[in-house]
Amino acid sequence: MNLQRLTVATEYQAGKGSKGEVFSGDVLELLPELTDRFGEKAQMVYLDPPFGTGGRFSCRVRVGEKDWETSKPSLTDIAYNDNLPRNEYLAMMRQVLEGAKALLNDTGTIFLHIDYRMSAHLRLLMDQVFGEKNFLNEIIWTYQTGGRAKNYFSRKHDVILFYRKNHQYYFDIYGAAMERTAVRHNHLKRHVDADGRVYRSIRSGGKVYTYYDDEPVFAGDVWDDVSHMQQKDPQRTGYETQKPVRLLERIVRCGTRPGDLVMDLFSGSGTTLVAAHQLNRGFVGADSARQAHSVMRRRLRGAPVLWHIGGTEGEPLVAASGRVGVGNYEISLQAYEMEKGVSARSFQGMDALDDWSVGYLRDGVYHAIAAERRSKAHPRLECVLNLPALSGEIVLSTGDVLGRRMFYRLNREEMEF
Ligand SMILES: C[S@@+](CC[C@H](N)C(=O)[O-])C[C@H]1O[C@@H](n2cnc3c(N)ncnc32)[C@H](O)[C@@H]1O
Repeated sequence: MNLQRLTVATEYQAGKGSKGEVFSGDVLELLPELTDRFGEKAQMVYLDPPFGTGGRFSCRVRVGEKDWETSKPSLTDIAYNDNLPRNEYLAMMRQVLEGAKALLNDTGTIFLHIDYRMSAHLRLLMDQVFGEKNFLNEIIWTYQTGGRAKNYFSRKHDVILFYRKNHQYYFDIYGAAMERTAVRHNHLKRHVDADGRVYRSIRSGGKVYTYYDDEPVFAGDVWDDVSHMQQKDPQRTGYETQKPVRLLERIVRCGTRPGDLVMDLFSGSGTTLVAAHQLNRGFVGADSARQAHSVMRRRLRGAPVLWHIGGTEGEPLVAASGRVGVGNYEISLQAYEMEKGVSARSFQGMDALDDWSVGYLRDGVYHAIAAERRSKAHPRLECVLNLPALSGEIVLSTGDVLGRRMFYRLNREEMEF
């Protein structure tokens, strides 16, 4: 069958719960469109940009059935470079922060996640863009992972700058409420009241303060109760610099209500979007890395998402055939071959595919109807999919281990009966 590669600007993924949109590309190029569509709509923006490390970050990817069975990724692919000279980095961040401000509604807030390398520079930049009086917190997120330094004190925290857009803003401290029993209170005296409730007391400045164990305690600006992911953490996606969902859950809970819109312009593996979806908030993400989108798709399966992904024109990499059945089409995927130059790697043939689907193109939007995706429980890709016969152009889509998404037009006339 003759397959023609297509550029498809948008793909709709059906699902349940709160909706989201994910954009692919450079944040500065995306900002005009994002501002057009979501200007003054976001309740909260979370940004976790590159930290200015000078390094290069990768993503570990499972290839083919074997890797899924053994859970050992055999491909390490580039995710993104973090090597902009400082002046370019700060110029980029100024534009991003101004863009983020335009995305926030009147009561919105922003959380900017960075570390010691850029925190001083970005604090000043935040003051310039959002105004010093709108500074709320410098949150210290401290963790125990990583090595220990001998020549200086080990660096064990990130900085999250928290600003509001205006004087009136939405914030719910109950979103960061911890069980009081989880907090150390050796210096407090323990009592039990007439109803059997445990409380603690302390005398200070002539006053007695009491705290009930079953009442929550509100987080301060040093967060040491959210651990970073360990090597074997099941949340790990293989995407370096991934943050733990618990951290983002706290931020989303404090900064938004169910139904609000959360935006993350450096969404990476999609942690913010996952937290927002789980908490029933709308979400919009953006990232320039191929592999980020691959990981986000995996993590957001089951959620209704508009993927603004594209897909490039070029030589077809798949061979497929179609058969007309009764009320359906039976589409068979026969081969997948990477282009020359890319093909000299160990991943080749169908192993190089992570997922594929068939569906219809309607008003320029691809709707996948039947899909196959490798997973631990289902490492093998089925090569035949049944597509109900509906109106619209038939499209086949593939996602490969390099995080590339491609779309092909299938011609009904060329299908066998
Ligand atoms: C620190 S990571 C974000 C990690 C994310 N919070 C998570 O939990 O996975 C920074 C992300 O910014 C993306 N990025 C870097 N420069 C970008 C740019 N100019 N436009 C869009 N995305 C960019 C990288 O691809 C990377 O995924």
